[in-house]
Amino acid sequence: MIRKAVFPAAGFGTRFLPATKASPKEMLPLVDKPLIQHGVEEARAAGVRDMIIVTGRGKNAIEDHFDVSFELEATLEKKGDGKLHALIRSISDLADFFYVRQNLPLGLGHAVLRTMDLVGYEPFAVVLSDDVIDAKTPVMRQMIGIQEKYGAGVVLAIQEVPRDQVSRYGIIKGKRIAEGVYEVEDMVEKPKPDKAPSNLAIIGRYILPPAIFPALQATQPGAGGEIQLTDAIRSLIGKERVIGYQFKGTRYDCGTKLGFQMANIAFALKDPELGPGLRAFLKKEKVR
Ligand code: UTP
Repeated sequence: MIRKAVFPAAGFGTRFLPATKASPKEMLPLVDKPLIQHGVEEARAAGVRDMIIVTGRGKNAIEDHFDVSFELEATLEKKGDGKLHALIRSISDLADFFYVRQNLPLGLGHAVLRTMDLVGYEPFAVVLSDDVIDAKTPVMRQMIGIQEKYGAGVVLAIQEVPRDQVSRYGIIKGKRIAEGVYEVEDMVEKPKPDKAPSNLAIIGRYILPPAIFPALQATQPGAGGEIQLTDAIRSLIGKERVIGYQFKGTRYDCGTKLGFQMANIAFALKDPELGPGLRAFLKKEKVR
């Protein structure tokens, strides 16, 4: 049973500057819904009740987004817009939200370590909201199924990536034990293509055991001078069963401008209101 999910959201989002100068990257909208809400809804659909968000300076909009907006709700109610009122209320009703600050962005591992007291001694999920995964069965639900089936301490969402892109990811070395399931033997953060043990990259979804916290405390800064989550997970291999799982679904890397634009187009094309107009526009553009 996974009851808690951690959402690291304290990074600077430099690849989206100037948009992220004063607003959080996690609040960039996919069509009309912020990236982080997509992640929270995915976790909720997997049975997670408590959402723990790691924030920093300039991230207040995230807290406001998941809070009750009294003035807005009162205005919509007065206008008689019941549908929009219900939609707005449903956001704060999604789950229980908890916040912890990471004063300096010292890395993903450091961000996760900040949640130690809030998570306590139980397994938990980590969701990076800039990886948006469109899937029939929410990916976190798929991963919980794998955790239970294999009695795994750690489950990592993995995906094949082109060889020339391995240096952007944590890469696993593993033994295939079933269709899409790997027993992880080793992993390396951001390897050079000729040093990478495979092209199976870790994507932004993790199930972790409480043992990750002492492992993070013992982890020295790695690639880029940051405390890397990958390094701490690596130190658990042999002590916990670590499974890499090739999830079913389409992943969009919304941490890059190109991935973000592709996700917006894909989601808008699926939207009954926007789809036909956008499809017609794209056809016209192709002719041009
Ligand atoms: P990224 O590597 O995408 O960093 O972090 P970033 O700062 O968000 O974006 P760029 O690279 O500058 O464009 C992956 C996730 O980990 C969080 C980020 O907020 C993002 O959700 N993170 C990263 C932290 O919470 N703290 C950190 O110290 C680093």
